Amino acid sequence: MKRIAVLTSGGDSPGMNAAIRAVVRKGLNEGMEVFGINHGYAGMVAGDIFPMDSKTVGDKIGRGGTFLYSARYPEFAEEKGQLAGIEQLKKKGIEGVVVIGGDGSYHGAMRLTEHGYPAVGLPGTIDNDIVGTDFTIGFDTAVTTVVDALDKIRDTSSSHHRTFVVEVMGRNAGDIALWSGIAAGADDICIPEREFSFEKIVENIERGYEQGKNHHLIVLAEGVMHGEAFAKKLKEAGDTSDLRVSVLGHIQRGGSPTARDRVLASRMGAHAVELLKEGKGGLAIGIHNEELVDSPILGPAETGALMSVNPDGSIKVNQPHEVPIELYRLNKDLNRTSNYIS
Ligand code: ADP
Ligand code: F6P
Repeated sequence: MKRIAVLTSGGDSPGMNAAIRAVVRKGLNEGMEVFGINHGYAGMVAGDIFPMDSKTVGDKIGRGGTFLYSARYPEFAEEKGQLAGIEQLKKKGIEGVVVIGGDGSYHGAMRLTEHGYPAVGLPGTIDNDIVGTDFTIGFDTAVTTVVDALDKIRDTSSSHHRTFVVEVMGRNAGDIALWSGIAAGADDICIPEREFSFEKIVENIERGYEQGKNHHLIVLAEGVMHGEAFAKKLKEAGDTSDLRVSVLGHIQRGGSPTARDRVLASRMGAHAVELLKEGKGGLAIGIHNEELVDSPILGPAETGALMSVNPDGSIKVNQPHEVPIELYRLNKDLNRTSNYIS
């Protein structure tokens, strides 16, 4: 393979630029020409594709966001959109694509591969909710940002003997809440994957203040519910403390990537090029027990594929992402006032 392209798709995440840089530099070292596609699949269809050299990715490794821009473009789920994108790849003589994004973007990579354009997926999202990997590019940075915010909120919370509900991102996954909550010493962590009781949390709050605590910090994953709704339910369950809600929002998606995200992105980007060089596509790269792994995106479960198509056409996730259960136990062990009922 002599000409490849790289795009970023779905929600952006810190470290995407480091991954693009790795694809470009590794590709050039392998004697390939490397193209950038702006605005994800939307840019592919629009032909917003340009050649990149080593300098194009200079000074990018430490920058947040994605300099190739990202987009959500539902039209690419239709064959018409895919064929229009392929037309543009053909015009430039591009033979393979690296797609940095989430599960949705992986489907696009799969479709390209089925149409004869090998595409490899890299997990780029702060949510850490992508199949086939222990960690996604951007997760570590998002957690670091959240911990910094939680430390600050704890300061003001302690000064005023206040209870704080801090809503963090993660879509339907509780990873950001769990990791940041443990790192910041939160009193309660509420995530969609585990049941909890509002009454029990109210008891925890009361007991904590009775025992002389000067704050109560609750980290709430957005997948459970919004912070304001959560606070309302807490009051209905009998909370009498001075309660505030803080929604961290999109600051969690930006910022300079941590060293860990930069290294992860660099390793994954380079590996994607190695796979394309061998003509391999339809694969997603992950990290498992610190080792790089690659798995078929779609196929029968027996082949190790991350997802399969059910007879009715719906998608079955064969290896769903799971939050590490041991972290729940750890949080329970580290908090006398734990709300867990399971
Ligand atoms: P993420 O990649 O973060 O999961 P999305 O689900 O929004 O984010 O998907 C990103 C993009 O991937 C979509 O806007 C669309 O362009 C493309 N995509 C999503 N689903 C499919 C699909 N089933 N087939 C082809 N392309 C898809
Ligand atoms: O998937 C990343 C993410 O930041 C989620 O955590 C969040 O729910 C969502 O994207 C926000 O999406 P948008 O940028 O479209 O508001």
